[in-house]
Amino acid sequence: MRSYLLYKITHIFHRLGFYYYSVKFYVQDNKENNNIILCFFKAVFRYLKIFNYKYGYYEYLEIPITTKCSLRCKHCSNLIPFYKKQSDYEISVLEKSIKEFLKCINNIVFVRVLGGEPFLGGNIIRVLQILLKSDKIQRIEVVTNGTIIPKDKKLIKLLKNPRVVISISQYPFVNYHKLEEFLIKEEIKYHIDKMTFWLDFGDAKKQNKTVKQLARQYRNCNQICRSLVNGQFHLCPRSSHGTDLGIVKDNEDDYLDLLDSTMTIEEKRNRINQLLKKKYIKACDHCYFGTRLAKKVPVAEQINKKVKNQK
Ligand SMILES: C[S@@+](CC[C@H](N)C(=O)[O-])C[C@H]1O[C@@H](n2cnc3c(N)ncnc32)[C@H](O)[C@@H]1O
Ligand code: SF4
Ligand code: SF4
Repeated sequence: MRSYLLYKITHIFHRLGFYYYSVKFYVQDNKENNNIILCFFKAVFRYLKIFNYKYGYYEYLEIPITTKCSLRCKHCSNLIPFYKKQSDYEISVLEKSIKEFLKCINNIVFVRVLGGEPFLGGNIIRVLQILLKSDKIQRIEVVTNGTIIPKDKKLIKLLKNPRVVISISQYPFVNYHKLEEFLIKEEIKYHIDKMTFWLDFGDAKKQNKTVKQLARQYRNCNQICRSLVNGQFHLCPRSSHGTDLGIVKDNEDDYLDLLDSTMTIEEKRNRINQLLKKKYIKACDHCYFGTRLAKKVPVAEQINKKVKNQK
């Protein structure tokens, strides 16, 4: 009970933080065309609706574009070190599923492009081009571990777009200052995601929890990190990558196949609504999150000490 309350309180703060940043970004982007007070109220009204998918407003989606990575973090929430063969996700599948997802919504606050390490993904330029074409997306974050400095001129130009922000995860042993200097020089927006600890999501082995335990865990978890992998819209990265890796048994009840040509957009929209009301998903049986087992662990602790591709 105590842990449930704790999770609820954390979640409320998390949401408030998200809400604060969403309003702040809107005011920042629109204050020149609007009176600042009017702009603030417009932003509050707009974002109040965002937490209700009924209105077609949507808060957040993660798009992993590659499983290539320059690090091997022991507790990676996206299970990246489990991939024996690291590769980019197929661009045609990414393109079709992103377009299909955008048809299902009216507006989304954040899309996070990640991996793996997104700057290792050979498809990052194309993905950013597809995302930037849509005016339904307000913010595009590229989440990086800070080890790679982008070199491609086309990519740099896209990163300068005012809707794009680089989010550098601050890892204790990575010298991300070179990337920071580069972003300042190129006038690319960025922020540093400072973290003091990570949480242990577990080793992904099946735990055989009861339905009651799974439902309690899911309530505690309150995950908002929806994740798009292989054309499938999943409720969290453990579910999307777990299914991709074959660790979590493929279960059609737990995701929407955006590429299913037999479904209309209306049906896909309803399916997302149904998914958002789920009591738990199969992946929770392969996860510690939302339970007492999810202990604090050091940030980005490496499986082996070698850091590849660090510039
Ligand atoms: C899976 S990473 C992918 C992007 C990039 N490779 C990176 O590390 O920033 C996305 C985000 O998840 C965070 N993350 C990964 N595992 C985590 C864990 N066990 N607990 C908390 N945050 C975690 C990372 O710090 C990062 O900000
Ligand atoms: S840097 Fe670490 S957290 Fe990010 S994807 Fe790679 S292994 Fe996962
Ligand atoms: S698998 Fe379940 S408990 Fe784990 S992060 Fe996803 S929704 Fe939460």
